[in-house]
Amino acid sequence: MKLVNKKIKNYTQIFHFFTEEEWARTSKNFNKNINAFFTGKKHEVFINVQEEGVAYFIGLGKSDSPVFEIQQVAVKFSQTYKEKLMAVPTLAVADFMTEKQFEEFVKGLLLGTYRYPFEKTHVFWNPKFELHFENLSQKKLDGISRKSEALSNGQIACQEWLNKPANLKKPEIFSLYLKTISKKYNLKYTSFNRKKCEELGLGAYLSVNQGSAYDAAFTIVEYKTEVKNAKTFGLVGKCVLFDTGGISLKNPDNMHYMKSDMGGATAVLGALIYAAEMQLPVNIIAILPITDNAISENAFLPSDIITAYNGKTIEVLNTDAEGRMILADGLSYLSRNYKTDILIDLATLTGSSVRMFGDTCGALFSNNEELKNLLIKTGDKTNQRLWNLPLWDIWKDDIRSDVADLKNISMKPIGDCIIAAKFLEQFIENHPKWAHLDIAGVAFGNVGYAKEKAATGFGVQLLADLIENYH
Ligand code: BES
Ligand code: MG
Ligand code: ZN
Repeated sequence: MKLVNKKIKNYTQIFHFFTEEEWARTSKNFNKNINAFFTGKKHEVFINVQEEGVAYFIGLGKSDSPVFEIQQVAVKFSQTYKEKLMAVPTLAVADFMTEKQFEEFVKGLLLGTYRYPFEKTHVFWNPKFELHFENLSQKKLDGISRKSEALSNGQIACQEWLNKPANLKKPEIFSLYLKTISKKYNLKYTSFNRKKCEELGLGAYLSVNQGSAYDAAFTIVEYKTEVKNAKTFGLVGKCVLFDTGGISLKNPDNMHYMKSDMGGATAVLGALIYAAEMQLPVNIIAILPITDNAISENAFLPSDIITAYNGKTIEVLNTDAEGRMILADGLSYLSRNYKTDILIDLATLTGSSVRMFGDTCGALFSNNEELKNLLIKTGDKTNQRLWNLPLWDIWKDDIRSDVADLKNISMKPIGDCIIAAKFLEQFIENHPKWAHLDIAGVAFGNVGYAKEKAATGFGVQLLADLIENYH
């Protein structure tokens, strides 16, 4: 899709944008019968077909609604009308629209082109589809175009991988993909197999992986800028390709959803693609400990005592609490081997966070006030909301084991998302700026493009905005 600042005499396709207030002010300039069909409410679309062409009246809702609502309107508009739109230069009319608002509309148009189900590769609109908007300079339009494409490429990659069924995302397949995009975007790709992980002592990660039919792939992807004194972000994404629960087997009723247990990793993937396409002046070290959590004769067992990368011992009391095991090694490997300004892990970690917040927000834990506030603010702005929960030391007692330094569950019927966060805190090696995002309830859920639950893309816009605007 191209954005162009020019005026052609006759357009055969026009998008007229209106907020409710804007429509009230200007509707007199249009055929007054339209008022019976259109008022400018959010998501309203009225199509006026005339001899000269087709005009889409697109309702944006109240003037003072947050900008992300315009992206929501565009996503739905795009999902509904993408097949019907003509591949012709299209005029966008909206004198009141700000640059930011137009940007959100373009992002939504692109995000709404995502095709589901998997493997019908998404195609953006015919390249002939040009959106002409006179109110912004060509330079600004080029900026919006670049940003929107980078974002939709990142978020669509995230959604595509999360939506894939378990048999189409075995570790080798996902690893091959990561290797391929690393080459494409000039990222540094490193992956440790089981033998290498044993040498390095990544025991917590290996405890989960030892039951897998597939080799370990503790993967590190690095994006580097040439810009001096740039900030460095450490990102760890839970990458359990399928979580059966292991020997502490899950109930089968909802087990198919556990193909989404890599939602932390796909959020990180989307952010990496965004940063690389935008050539952001930052460094990113992303760790994705890839594995499935399988049942097998080699699987780890409740009562096992294992030694993590940082030397702490862990008593495994439930093999379904596998996410915190692999993240533990992800976090301490990152902290011990790289210097980062900010350390963030994202994970579909606990059913407890789902019960707490449902699909309204992710659960946020942090040891740093500034980072915590920034994440909440960025979540509000991008509509990928987070809410903070405490990390008080009173809960440290609940993960103390008789036979090891830690146990992987508390065995108490209390907020396991807090217990899990407290557990992870033991592996950040005193990093002063760490945040843990439990996104189990928000990564996979109701979406406009599928009847069943599917990938929401949660985390990509949040991380992209955070990384791009961090100073
Ligand atoms: N992957 C799950 C968490 C999850 C639950 C993600 C629902 C998405 C939706 C995680 O590995 C898990 O199984 N957690 C257990 C921990 C429990 C055994 C302490 C849980 O929350 O039930
Ligand atoms: Mg589990
Ligand atoms: Zn899991």
